[in-house]
Amino acid sequence: MTKLAVRINGHDHGPMDVRDDLTMNDFLREYLGFTGTKFGCGAAQCLSCAVIIDQADGTSHTSPTCVVPAVNFDGKAIRTVEGHARDGALSPLQTSFVEHFAFQCGYCTPGFLNEGQVLLERLERSKVARADLERVITEALDGHLCRCTGYVKYHQAVRAVILADPTRYLDPADATGDAG
Ligand code: FES
Ligand code: FES
Repeated sequence: MTKLAVRINGHDHGPMDVRDDLTMNDFLREYLGFTGTKFGCGAAQCLSCAVIIDQADGTSHTSPTCVVPAVNFDGKAIRTVEGHARDGALSPLQTSFVEHFAFQCGYCTPGFLNEGQVLLERLERSKVARADLERVITEALDGHLCRCTGYVKYHQAVRAVILADPTRYLDPADATGDAG
């Protein structure tokens, strides 16, 4: 057993004793009831289980949870799909997913949502040229598998959020071009 304390969606959990072989996915779903984080392949291949890890320097990235021990998250701050909405209102990215019918069964959606959110926040810190946007979105979402093949819709949904607020996400010197 090892002590685990982790901040999830702005709330502290623990410290508590957990088994060393408990995965983060089981910890979130079975211990805390955060069932929005899915379990797909169980082999770090599909990223349906991905959560956001927030770093002290203000950057963030995603991590699978299916093969990672919960104790590896000790002291970290993470966000799950349950942390996107505010006071019952969907985030702009969630709304765009709905408007673009970006999911079918929805099993992969939390992972795509977390990855898209990480991309939006990265672009706020470091804007990109419009000409590079399609590649940047493709690269960001690469690695997330959707068995319902909703890749184009996910891409379009992320792009729509960015193009709706170009001064926030795009380099103003290059923020021209096809609105897609
Ligand atoms: S369930 Fe974790 S990567 Fe597929
Ligand atoms: S919407 Fe079904 S797996 Fe992606």
